[in-house]
Amino acid sequence: MSLEGFFDPRTVAVVGASRQKGKVGHEIVANLVRGGFGGAVYPVNPKADEVEGLRCYPDLKSIETPPDLAVVSVPAKAVSAVIRECGQVGCKSAIVITAGFKETGDEGRRLEEELSQTARRAGVRIIGPNCLGVLVPGKKLNASFGGDLPEAGGIGYVSQSGALLTAILDSAKASGIGFSMLVSIGNKADLDELDVLEALYNHEDTSVIAGYLESVTDGKSFLRLAEEISHRKPILLLKAGGTTAGARAASSHTGSMAGSETAYEVVFQRAGIVRCDSIKTQFDYAQAFAYQSLPRGTRVAIVTNAGGAGIMATDAVERQELRFAKFSDETLTKLSENLPAAANVNNPVDILGDALADRYEFAMDAVLSDENVDVVVVLLTPQAMTDCSGSARAAVAASRRHEDKPVLACFLGGEKVAEAAGILRDGGVPPYDSPESAVRTIKVMHDYVRWRSRPKRVVRLFPVNRHKVEKIITRHIRENIREVGEAEAKAVLEAYGFVTPKGAIATTADQAANVADQLGYPVVMKIWSPDIVHKTDVGGVRIGLRNAREVHDAFDLMMYRVPKQAPEADVLGVLLQEQVSAGKEVILGMHRDPNFGPLLMFGMGGTMVEVLRDVSFHLAPLTPEEAREMLARTRTYQLLQGVRGEEGVDIDAVAEGLRRVSQLVTEFPQIEEMDINPYVVGPPGTTSVAVDARMSVSEKK
Ligand code: COA
Repeated sequence: MSLEGFFDPRTVAVVGASRQKGKVGHEIVANLVRGGFGGAVYPVNPKADEVEGLRCYPDLKSIETPPDLAVVSVPAKAVSAVIRECGQVGCKSAIVITAGFKETGDEGRRLEEELSQTARRAGVRIIGPNCLGVLVPGKKLNASFGGDLPEAGGIGYVSQSGALLTAILDSAKASGIGFSMLVSIGNKADLDELDVLEALYNHEDTSVIAGYLESVTDGKSFLRLAEEISHRKPILLLKAGGTTAGARAASSHTGSMAGSETAYEVVFQRAGIVRCDSIKTQFDYAQAFAYQSLPRGTRVAIVTNAGGAGIMATDAVERQELRFAKFSDETLTKLSENLPAAANVNNPVDILGDALADRYEFAMDAVLSDENVDVVVVLLTPQAMTDCSGSARAAVAASRRHEDKPVLACFLGGEKVAEAAGILRDGGVPPYDSPESAVRTIKVMHDYVRWRSRPKRVVRLFPVNRHKVEKIITRHIRENIREVGEAEAKAVLEAYGFVTPKGAIATTADQAANVADQLGYPVVMKIWSPDIVHKTDVGGVRIGLRNAREVHDAFDLMMYRVPKQAPEADVLGVLLQEQVSAGKEVILGMHRDPNFGPLLMFGMGGTMVEVLRDVSFHLAPLTPEEAREMLARTRTYQLLQGVRGEEGVDIDAVAEGLRRVSQLVTEFPQIEEMDINPYVVGPPGTTSVAVDARMSVSEKK
């Protein structure tokens, strides 16, 4: 869909163009005029003859030619009528600034619904309501009541908060950062973040997409689109405010640990979106992405006139797990022959405190020419003789001669380096306020490059018995039973290739002892009740029962104790299982996010999951590579590999278990949550066992 009417209109009408300076409608006209918009601006206000020196029209119909864009700032109750009129005169795009819609309650919600319907019927697309407007610096279009137009540049910005956009405009102005366009999407009554992201994707002047989001309307479409965009343009997002939509008491460990923010984390990771934690870091990253090439590797070279700054950068390189470039002999010779004897020619290259611009330019050229260098950070502190601006120009010149390698700068100081920062920025070498910020930006760029070059995602499927699972789940849904009992949950797992411990149900103490005799000792006894999810909490689990006598006693005790702890529960008997001994306990789980779908979880298993919280999440379906990545992101992974000479476990079996869960929950969207905890894994060659399982189902929405 083309949104040209919004971003490249020839003519703009402002409906509700107040005569009074300081009122919203008036300021929009003033901004359009002050910004130097080249096309016609038509103020519309039945009470005014002129606004800001422009002829004013009583309504849209009175304008000779229909405007391409209408900016609407009349009171909420009058907005729908204006949109209807837009449709009548053939103005297809409208930005509705007016607030007082769904953000205010029921009456506002009704007004917004009416507005959406009116727009649909009239064939008018709208941005807003309750938004700040749209700014396109390259077209000198300031259709907003925000501040002045920022500089033109490569960053396209979409914001769900108008107020935040004003803060962004202000800080961009202070730091001279340029934008291709800025869009405030407000309440998203019609166009939403997906439409704007797509427009920015197709917008030639936009090389980097940045934004502020609070919530995403359609999670799955967002993921699909963002993943596609990230292959061509980086997306940098500030994400605030976890939504509570769909949040409810979770019966699984996975459910209780997967908040809505987890879903966003996972989605961003999958879609290659760079998550930013402040406007500052967002600008830090955006400038480098917009004006420098992407690094081909992680080998960083540092050029500095100050040892201390070099050490700060060195620490940051280590912290961010980047590497130090090892210069070639040729580079080392070149540096030693041309730099003063006291200079350090090894990385970080210290060109000494009295370095002038020529020394900077020489050293930067030398390291940028070295094929062992992927990226350069240039540092400066202002000594008495330091030529800050000249050195900035030298850095820009060297960067331009080596456009295939990114150069980032950090000139430390205040007043003395202010002009230099401007020169660097204008020359496309982003300046940072600390070596740490510069190095962190390199790391983010590198992660993005790695994401882009990952192999195409191929999900491999296992042969399974879907029919069996279908039957179990259908029965539960038909009978309105949410929790699938342990025995049937295990039947589901077995149908998907998991091995579960042998076991059987018993309803009397004698029967329990008989079953145990057949299973062989030791055995585990668990309470069997459709109403008890956390069996341990009510004294419903006994392990290590060694003979019939112990089984007998354990049965009697459980039948006495559990009803006291859980008086509402329907206790049917006990489940006896062979005891799985050797191996490490992990958890494989899934929680279905209402917006984004199944979130898989892996972590240290047992009862300590929620205490240790050493878990990682990923969206299903899972590729073999992603399953391995999920494991590697936890500390548990190191334990599984074996520590201090201890033999490691069968890592492939754990990864395979995750992929089997992934396949199960993808093929059965009725499964709301599940845990396999513990999943006991032993050394390679042994069989992994799903010892305990918990699963809840609901009708597919
Ligand atoms: N067509 C044309 N002009 C109209 C009109 C219509 N149908 N209805 C009213 N107007 C004119 C009025 O005559 C008035 O002009 P005047 O000031 O010269 O008399 C002007 O529009 C404004 O109307 P007014 O009733 O004075 O409203 P207002 O300026 O106090 O408030 C809004 C209007 C839209 C600014 C206000 O309702 C609002 O929503 N403010 C918040 C905006 C906001 O924060 N948005 C989100 C940002 S993130």
